[in-house]
Amino acid sequence: MCVRKKLWLYLQNGFIIILMRTALEILKTLSIEEKIRLLNGVGSWNSYDAGGKIPVFSMSDGPHGLRYQGGKESYANINQSDVATCFPTASAIASSWDVDASQRMAAAISKEAKAFGVKIMLGCGMNIKRSPLCGRNFEYFSEDPLLSGELAASYVRGMQENGVGACIKHFALNNQEKFRQSSSSNVGERAMREIYLSAFERAVKKSQPLSIMCSYNMINGTYASAHKELLSDILRSDWGFGGIVISDWGADIDAVKSLRAGLDLAMPDSKNYFYRQIKAAYDKGLVKQSEIDEAALRIIEVALKLSRADAFASRGVDYSVQHNTAFELACESAVLLKNDGFFPIAPKKQKVLVVGELAQKMRFQGGGSSHITTAEYPCALDELCKVFDVVYVQGYVSTFCKESKKQKLNAKLRAEAQKKIRSVLEQNPDIPVLYFCGLEETCEGEGFDRDDMSLPQSHVDLYRDIEALTKNVGLVTFGGSPLDLTFTSGAKAVLHMYLCGEACGEACRALITGEKNPCGKLAETWPLQIECGLPSASLDVNYIEGILAGYRWYETKNSAVQYEFGYGLSYTSFEYSDLRVEKKSGGNGGDAVHFELSLDVENTGALGGSEVVQIYVENPLPPQGFVRPRIELRAFKKLYLEPGEKKRVCFELDARAFSVYSEKRHGFEVVGGEYKICAAASVRDIRLCQSVSVVGGALEELVQSDECVRKSAFVSREWHKKGEFTLTDSLGTMARESGFVRRLLKMFHLYILATSSSHTAEDPAVRIALSALEENPLESLISTSGGAVSEKFARFIVRKANR
Ligand code: BGC
Repeated sequence: MCVRKKLWLYLQNGFIIILMRTALEILKTLSIEEKIRLLNGVGSWNSYDAGGKIPVFSMSDGPHGLRYQGGKESYANINQSDVATCFPTASAIASSWDVDASQRMAAAISKEAKAFGVKIMLGCGMNIKRSPLCGRNFEYFSEDPLLSGELAASYVRGMQENGVGACIKHFALNNQEKFRQSSSSNVGERAMREIYLSAFERAVKKSQPLSIMCSYNMINGTYASAHKELLSDILRSDWGFGGIVISDWGADIDAVKSLRAGLDLAMPDSKNYFYRQIKAAYDKGLVKQSEIDEAALRIIEVALKLSRADAFASRGVDYSVQHNTAFELACESAVLLKNDGFFPIAPKKQKVLVVGELAQKMRFQGGGSSHITTAEYPCALDELCKVFDVVYVQGYVSTFCKESKKQKLNAKLRAEAQKKIRSVLEQNPDIPVLYFCGLEETCEGEGFDRDDMSLPQSHVDLYRDIEALTKNVGLVTFGGSPLDLTFTSGAKAVLHMYLCGEACGEACRALITGEKNPCGKLAETWPLQIECGLPSASLDVNYIEGILAGYRWYETKNSAVQYEFGYGLSYTSFEYSDLRVEKKSGGNGGDAVHFELSLDVENTGALGGSEVVQIYVENPLPPQGFVRPRIELRAFKKLYLEPGEKKRVCFELDARAFSVYSEKRHGFEVVGGEYKICAAASVRDIRLCQSVSVVGGALEELVQSDECVRKSAFVSREWHKKGEFTLTDSLGTMARESGFVRRLLKMFHLYILATSSSHTAEDPAVRIALSALEENPLESLISTSGGAVSEKFARFIVRKANR
């Protein structure tokens, strides 16, 4: 930007600040009615302006691109939004282990947000991956809180540096989709603080997001939206959060309780449903004016901050630059899981056989509220045709209307594919076969979980047919979460693209040909068998595995896995040497434990490439009856090295790296003992280690025993029965007992199907609506239906169901 323009913007901004009334002054001009109205949104996406007294801020999903529904207000049809750039989803970008990549992505998204006047982006999603089966895992970073927290903090920085507010979500413990609005995540205090809240804590403290979205679920029996300990004591008092808490859309179940707990803005517009509740409570003296004022003031402050950022107006968006960023980020994110000399394939117009419809109908994003409408970009098949002499065999058909996951490969398609593959192989016995497979749209998405890690049966069938004919097969796989790839043990290579955004086709070509060197590492364990954290189909989700989430479980139990946390190959090789660990302090009771460490990393191969250096701490063995993960990630850095280049990498570890959360002392406390600090290329590929001794407390004096934790996390609630139903029950719960509600549900069901564009229950967009209808509390249907489900009608349903 030229100096004159910069100066002009600076002056303009300064003027606006001077002219701007303070939040407090504005608050004083509002009537109590206006203040209460301010606590609920207007329409699906906007804040209230109190007759022009407060600048409006508009919100939009998020997180890996702009899902702008603007004037259309068509919240119900999540797939209807303006065209935008689709960047890699969180599970993909997390595999880059690159905080700069996450920041770059958010900065790019913020440009598009500004161009559309969007002030708050609803992202990033950062729940810990407790189970590989959570349908929304593609929207989350990792099973590790350090990695998730760092990536989230850089995302927030990228967004907010450009004047657009971030809204980290879903706070907290929303780790499965089944019964997401009626289940309770029951968890011990230590696991909550060490694992599930710790990522949010890091992001809040490091980047001060302007807003945070509370989740749908309950935590230990209290809705997150009304959880005072979570929203006020921990988030605001402990962590110093200064922004606003926004409810997930429809997550506010008890407006008065939520306001008093620390929720500021309930979304979407409940058409005065919340207003009436809060006003009535205020009139009866059940809510204090100061409670209303505090929330209103916070909203006004955020509105003012965002309107000041307007001075730095959008300079328009160059979509080709955006697309190129999406391409670069996709290349950073892909993970090479296996390679017996198959990749890269030199682009010398040689013949390759491409099999599998996903090469053509690419799956590059997930379904649900993060769905981006993109422009048309070349698929992998088109891209590969530019550099190879391609023979293409479609094989399976990946549309949710015709095939479901368990269906075998259609006999006719199968015979055709076999015939074609066989004839190509007869003429070219050594031809490399690139098999494209993975999770189709129906397999994972918002609103539902997966049953297992398997691929659609038709993809497995086709692979078996190929393998029977040739051994020269490399896989290119798609999906937002771990897959069961045990059936492909004979394949020479596997390149997992995750859901890598709109430039997926170009990224596939660049990585397959070696134009780009894969450098992603898994941000989650790919288990062989899922041993912990399975989604629950009851009202209680009991976190009995406690702190052993993800690799903390698999590494502590020494279980066999398909691919471990932190794993990923490259076309080059890296050597680690000369680890030096220096203790800076920590002699006096452990309060000030601090280590500095450094090591050399050298690219010993023939290609330039990036390496993610991971620093783990191996903990001392816990005493009998107590739990501590065997090993934990404590730092990481990604660096690029030319062939033969060597660089020294430095890290610092503070007290937190040697601490546990003590339920007895209500804080993080250093545990004394002998630790090992390790530099590694994955959690199972430890290259260098050094032992250190740390002064601190005894584990058994700081934390509860394992048995105690398991017992306290275990709850078994009964479904409500006839006579007990209230507005907090879902239609699905009532339908268990009431024929009337069953019929009603059927009617609504048919209505949703009839008004959808696909008319099929397997369409992810329809699936969300159906699960919301069945599983969400009636309270939530009232507040999100835009008036279609009135309070009167909802109460009528409850009365009928109770009879
Ligand atoms: C999702 C949020 C999303 C919101 C608005 C909810 O159903 O859980 O992640 O931001 O809708 O679309």
